[in-house]
Amino acid sequence: MGGLDDLYQQLILDHYRNRRGRGRIEGASASVHEHNPVCGDECYLDILVEDDRITDIRADGDGCSISQAAASMLTEVARGKDLESALDLVEHFRLVMHGDVVPDEDILGDAVALGGVAKYPVRVKCALLSWLALRECIAGYREATATGG
Ligand code: FES
Repeated sequence: MGGLDDLYQQLILDHYRNRRGRGRIEGASASVHEHNPVCGDECYLDILVEDDRITDIRADGDGCSISQAAASMLTEVARGKDLESALDLVEHFRLVMHGDVVPDEDILGDAVALGGVAKYPVRVKCALLSWLALRECIAGYREATATGG
């Protein structure tokens, strides 16, 4: 029974202990600073965009194991995506966290392991912190490049 849950648990712990894509990007195309109002934990997200594609993405900050693992998983799955696909990815994860759709591993990569978080409303904010930061980051980038010509 617990096989898959155990595997997901291990995956979350692994991402928490060995954060992928951790840090900041010097000369980032867009940056966002988000915080979780429930606990005060923070997330910094930077993206580098070339030809409408995320060529680098890094997350930094402090938080619980769920928020840190979620940020690590995000950087892994979003790197290399074009901006529209990255927004689709965030939207899928958001719907999963609200229990509206079943998590799709092909879309989410390792973040499929966070599907069970949807059952714990308080933790949903933790998981979404960095993912919603990416949505904001892309919006900010688009706004800046639209007005900047
Ligand atoms: Fe702060 Fe999870 S408890 S982000």
